[in-house]
Amino acid sequence: MSVLFQPFAQRSLTLRNRLVVSPMCQYSARDGLPGDWHLVHLGSRAVGGAGAVVAEATAVSPEGRISPEDTGLWNDAQAEAWARIAAFVRANGAVPAVQLAHAGRKASTYAPWLGRGAVPPGEGGWTVVAPSALAYDDLHPRPQALDEAGIAKVVDDFRQAARRALAAGFEIAEVHAAHGYLLHQFLSPLSNRREDRYGGDFDGRARLLLEVVAAVREVWPDRLPLWVRLSATDWVEGGWDVDQSVELARRLAPLGVDLIDVSSGGLDPAQRIEVGPGYQVPFARRVRAEAGIATGAVGLIETAQQAEAVVAAGDADLVLAGRAFLRDPYFAAHAAQALGVEPPTPPQYLRGW
Ligand SMILES: Cc1cc2nc3c(=O)[nH]c(=O)nc-3n(C[C@H](O)[C@H](O)[C@H](O)COP(=O)(O)O)c2cc1C
Repeated sequence: MSVLFQPFAQRSLTLRNRLVVSPMCQYSARDGLPGDWHLVHLGSRAVGGAGAVVAEATAVSPEGRISPEDTGLWNDAQAEAWARIAAFVRANGAVPAVQLAHAGRKASTYAPWLGRGAVPPGEGGWTVVAPSALAYDDLHPRPQALDEAGIAKVVDDFRQAARRALAAGFEIAEVHAAHGYLLHQFLSPLSNRREDRYGGDFDGRARLLLEVVAAVREVWPDRLPLWVRLSATDWVEGGWDVDQSVELARRLAPLGVDLIDVSSGGLDPAQRIEVGPGYQVPFARRVRAEAGIATGAVGLIETAQQAEAVVAAGDADLVLAGRAFLRDPYFAAHAAQALGVEPPTPPQYLRGW
């Protein structure tokens, strides 16, 4: 009996299995609007059997986009464009989820295949914001430090984007606080040098994320799960680390967060990552065991047996996979087959399995 292909219930939702499509930027939107690419990309992975499909980092404000080609949820036209996609994912058996994001000092950069580093203001780029006026590296723009009014706007932008995500038909909202983007920039002492109440000690650095999560929970209904993606460690001496992630997870749970999606890195170019199969799984295990909250494990989990073992060992409740799903939209159905379970598939394709 596979545990990976057991349903997973949270609040009023049930995922048909525990293999989830990790959020992945497609750099294929115009004016923040998802289009046919997103429908086919996300829709085919629902058809392919995933338990939930998490749409890419979707900006809560125009200045929060990583690139000019990012999707957004800062206006109602974007919510309408997402509605068709969320409905298709839902109709094909997967839970539609969206990652709400603000890139902070890593905003206004080229899509990977269009260039490197900062997009200049004349070519569609913009002024970027951060906790402190420290650039990520020489290729990235020097950010403006947010003042209190700017921080309040960030909190409200997340709240309004969550409201639109709900209107669009998404059933899980994930707050992106990982990979060196704005909320992670506030968490880490390497990027947050503020001396006001949003910086300094752990409480100060965690304040913005806790405010954002509380604001999202205000509009995200009790019947639906709320997830947070964290980078468990910066992989830099003196940076954000696993102990702080555990403490943060303990504080997020009472605010109505249902799962921590545990990733790592992305904050500082000095990072030295020990990459290998399942290299972030031990972080998910620690957060789950020590903070008593459900976790998702992600990162080089690429075979059915490996994903099964993560859940069977109690390291995590869910497995998120990224690149495996890029190579194979049917990764979940193939994993089921490999584990001797009936592949999740729509009736139109039944005869194929
Ligand atoms: C093309 C691509 C785009 C990505 N975009 C995002 C993103 O929007 N948000 C995010 O949290 N992670 C993003 N990631 C990271 C993945 O979600 C995932 O954490 C990472 O690829 C490790 O998992 P994997 O080894 O299964 O691919 C992206 C990864 C890839 C390959």
